Amino acid sequence: MGESFSGAGELETALYTLEDVLQHSTRDDCWIVVDGKVYDVTKFLLDHPGGDEVIIASTGKDATDDFENVGHSNSARAMMKEYVIGRANASTFPSKPSYSYSGSSTQAAPSVPDRSDLLIKVLQFVVPFFILCFALALRYLAKEERAPKVE
Ligand code: HEM
Repeated sequence: MGESFSGAGELETALYTLEDVLQHSTRDDCWIVVDGKVYDVTKFLLDHPGGDEVIIASTGKDATDDFENVGHSNSARAMMKEYVIGRANASTFPSKPSYSYSGSSTQAAPSVPDRSDLLIKVLQFVVPFFILCFALALRYLAKEERAPKVE
């Protein structure tokens, strides 16, 4: 195994399922999953510079994307080690959709827009066009009514 933890001791061998993680989604008992590792951040919540709400919103799922999207610093990553309690059993977590055609992913390719999507797209252009035509026709008729007819 290429990865190693520092300071986590035996706890690192604990393997948690999504079901386990879901049981710890509150302010008083808060676990998060980042990069395949499970963290008990209950004691860190109030000290988190980004606030406790964002972390609580990232519980009960794989929070890797949430964590990475913030662009956490290296010091933030170093702090995490203190809270690691084990590993996440990947097979119990829903896999992320893959939009890549390469690699060994078994995910389906991104779906081609189906007929109803196409209809909505067409209507998005056609409906405003008809409204415009209708408005112009009304304007034209109103003008005709006002203008005296010259024989
Ligand atoms: C053990 C886990 C975590 C640790 C140790 C941690 C630590 C930190 C630290 C030290 C910062 C200050 C900025 C920096 O140094 O990068 C920060 C900011 C922040 N974190 Fe976390 N964080 C954790 C998990 C999360 C999660 C799961 C989220 C969910 C989205 C999150 C969202 C944020 C946000 C929104 C900020 C504020 C960014 C800003 O205002 O620029 N953090 N975090």
